Amino acid sequence: MHSSFKLLLLSIALVSASPIDNLAPPATNSTLNPVSAQGCYSGGERWANDRAYALQQAQAFCNDVGRGNYYAGESRPKCYNLSSNKKVNFVLSLLSTVPGRYIDAPECYDGMIKEINGCDNGGDTTYTNWRYIADPNAGNC
Ligand SMILES: *[C@@H]1O[C@H](CO)[C@@H](O)[C@H](O)[C@H]1NC(C)=O
Ligand SMILES: *[C@@H]1O[C@H](CO)[C@@H](O)[C@H](O)[C@H]1NC(C)=O
Repeated sequence: MHSSFKLLLLSIALVSASPIDNLAPPATNSTLNPVSAQGCYSGGERWANDRAYALQQAQAFCNDVGRGNYYAGESRPKCYNLSSNKKVNFVLSLLSTVPGRYIDAPECYDGMIKEINGCDNGGDTTYTNWRYIADPNAGNC
C-alpha cells in the first residue's frame, strides 16, 4: 500500500474516532475537499488571525507535556485557548510500532510549526516516528 494512502486512512480513522476533531461535515463533493498528502485538514476552523498565537501555544505545549519520554503508542493531547472564542487541540503521539523514545521541545515544536504554518486549517502529519496534530477548533478549552 502506498504510504500516503495509509496516511489518508489514518486521518479518516482519526476523524471518525476523535471527539476533538471538529472538522467540517463530510464532503458531499469530494473534489472540493481533497486531503493533501501532507495531511492538512481541508475544512473546519482556520488559524486566520490566530496563527502567531497558535505558534506560541505550540511552544507552551512542547515545553510542557509535549516533550519527554513516550512509550510505544503513547498519545498526548492538550488543548490551549486561542483568542476570540477559539482553541487549538494539539496531539503528539509516538507510533505504536516504535519502541519507547524521547523527544525534546525543539523537535516537538519543529513538527507542530509545520501543521500551523503549512496548513490553513491545521493538520495531522506522521513522520518517521511521530504523529503531529495541531487542530484549530471553535470554543474554549
Ligand atoms: C464538484 O466540485 C467541482 C469543483 O467546484 C465542480 O467542478 C464539480 O462540478 C462538482 N461536482 C458535483 C457533482 O457537484
Ligand atoms: C480557556 O478559556 C475559558 C474561557 O475564558 C476559561 O474558562 C478556561 O479556563 C481557559 N482554559 C485554559 C486551559 O486556559
